[in-house]
Amino acid sequence: MAEHIRVLLTEEQVDRRIAEVAQEINKDYEGEPIHLICILKGGAMFMCELAKRLTGDVSFDFMDVSSYGSGTESTGVVKIIKDLDEDIAGRNLIIVEDIIDTGRTLKNLKLLLEQRHPASIRLCTMLDKPSRRVEKEVHVDYKCFEIPDEFVVGYGLDYDQKYRSLPYIGVVEFE
Ligand code: IMP
Ligand code: MG
Repeated sequence: MAEHIRVLLTEEQVDRRIAEVAQEINKDYEGEPIHLICILKGGAMFMCELAKRLTGDVSFDFMDVSSYGSGTESTGVVKIIKDLDEDIAGRNLIIVEDIIDTGRTLKNLKLLLEQRHPASIRLCTMLDKPSRRVEKEVHVDYKCFEIPDEFVVGYGLDYDQKYRSLPYIGVVEFE
């Protein structure tokens, strides 16, 4: 089946918005150290673009989790595929995600990280699909864009491991 990508957010729009969100974070943390937790693989491009614009003392680590079974809906269980390298006790974390859909991944990931006693945990996502939320109590501290319920790719996001490297966000359309 051939697919076509329709541009939803241009590279300029995404870059401009990331710069604004970075400013918000800079203001909130006022030079306090920030430890970014990048959720692989989708969060990687967003984290790099965000991190470049943070002015304080920034470190980062990577985690890969899966909350999907065989279907396309996430389940309640997070499986750690790659754990963090560093201890997070006493640190100010910002989880950096590509997109929040049902919110199940984030809810469970947050519970898991809380058990390791960080000083604080905030959540920063590039995209949010609020209409799809199942876990209503997931609090998003920083977000770049709210988008409608469409399957998107680019800027780290994939469809079947394709399109992650696109410098813009697009909707996958099937012909
Ligand atoms: P959830 O919030 O637990 O349902 O799952 C969020 C994860 O599902 C994201 O981190 C993505 O990896 C994936 N995902 C959800 N919506 C999309 C999409 O539109 N495009 C690509 N991946 C998506
Ligand atoms: Mg993800």
